[in-house]
Amino acid sequence: MGAQSSRAGKHMLKQDGRGKEKTCCSGTMRGPMKPCHCPSRKLLVPLLSLVLISLALLKLPLFHTYQKPIGVSVDPIYRERVRTYVQEVLSNECRPSFARQRMRPDHSRSTPVAQPFLYKNTILNDEMFKYSPPFGFLGMQKNLKEVLKLLPSSEESSGGRECRRCVVVGNGGILKGLGLGALLNQFNVIIRLNSGPVKDFSADVGNRTSIRMTYPEGCPKVWEDTDSDLKLVAVIYKSVDFHWLRAVITETAISLWDWLFFWQKVPERVPIDVSQFHLLNPEIIRETALDLLHFPTPRKRFWGWDQNVPTLGVSALNLATYVCDEVSIAGFGYNLSQRNAPLHYYDDLTMTAMLKEYMHNVQTERVFLKHLIMSGTVTDLTGGIHCSFC
Ligand SMILES: *[C@@H]1O[C@H](CO)[C@@H](O)[C@H](O)[C@H]1NC(C)=O
Ligand SMILES: *[C@@H]1O[C@H](CO)[C@@H](O)[C@H](O)[C@H]1NC(C)=O
Repeated sequence: MGAQSSRAGKHMLKQDGRGKEKTCCSGTMRGPMKPCHCPSRKLLVPLLSLVLISLALLKLPLFHTYQKPIGVSVDPIYRERVRTYVQEVLSNECRPSFARQRMRPDHSRSTPVAQPFLYKNTILNDEMFKYSPPFGFLGMQKNLKEVLKLLPSSEESSGGRECRRCVVVGNGGILKGLGLGALLNQFNVIIRLNSGPVKDFSADVGNRTSIRMTYPEGCPKVWEDTDSDLKLVAVIYKSVDFHWLRAVITETAISLWDWLFFWQKVPERVPIDVSQFHLLNPEIIRETALDLLHFPTPRKRFWGWDQNVPTLGVSALNLATYVCDEVSIAGFGYNLSQRNAPLHYYDDLTMTAMLKEYMHNVQTERVFLKHLIMSGTVTDLTGGIHCSFC
């Protein structure tokens, strides 16, 4: 009964499914639209009205259906050039700690993050509680401790590991028709974002997933990853995100109250083992925003943040420099002048949808990524940010 009415409320808020999510730089995601603490109940009515009004104002396109992409024609010469480049990247010698060392000069402002994920036995430091989500867990000690209890203990570092190549696969339409799937599968660590699907698109995007980085609203509604070594890396944007994580780990219901704070339907089940759930250290996001993108120090406003939340794509790239030695990106970037180019590899939204983006500072991210690619720190396999093989 309770679940029934929660569902109704959620539909009201939902507005659109896939159409609304993931509309930024890397084709990844928009940030939080909600205040980060549960406001008291007396605020609920004005809050809900505001949500509905702002959704109406946004006039979001109503794409409810999950469409298979129409065929795109890619210039065969360009396609061959991309494939040759990816093969070259894969055959180059893997240089230990390369990406992290090359990025070090950018990190002048603070010390590198000690651990990219938080575990049951992680020793929490004060830095972690300096800011509200997604930059930290200010005021959320209790939520954090409840979730950490459910998570595995950190893996023992077994000394030296083999040199690893990461690829962060963005959700950009630029991947369509390039047939890079088999090549992307050859990377040691494949990081995917939110609900970026694999099943029907494996020819272009591969079918292995090592890390799926997501927040509740972005998480796949239909789970497709079957890899035994997969990690689901949860990113926290608001306190109810902790409740969602706790619910999917323990396979319990999400409370009716919590449902009101998600801006889009969230999955109630994630069919993976408890040991596969991971919690992103918010310092990865804080470092991405403050040290790498040089965004202003977070100041909280009632409606989220002031274009200073990095996209999930750039945050994943920072994460990749911690878990891998060499880092590549694929499916990042787009050309806003090409309004009819596909925005994502899995739907038929066009660039026009992208123009609605307001939460992220897409331009700053693009400049930053371009700098990383042109300096050789990171390779852009599909050339959407900077094409070094064109
Ligand atoms: C990927 O596809 C190949 C070939 O179809 C299959 O053998 C393999 O099991 C798939 N891997 C995953 C993780 O789904
Ligand atoms: C974007 O597309 C337009 C039109 O096709 C083209 O003129 C322009 O050079 C492109 N910009 C970039 C940065 O690729």
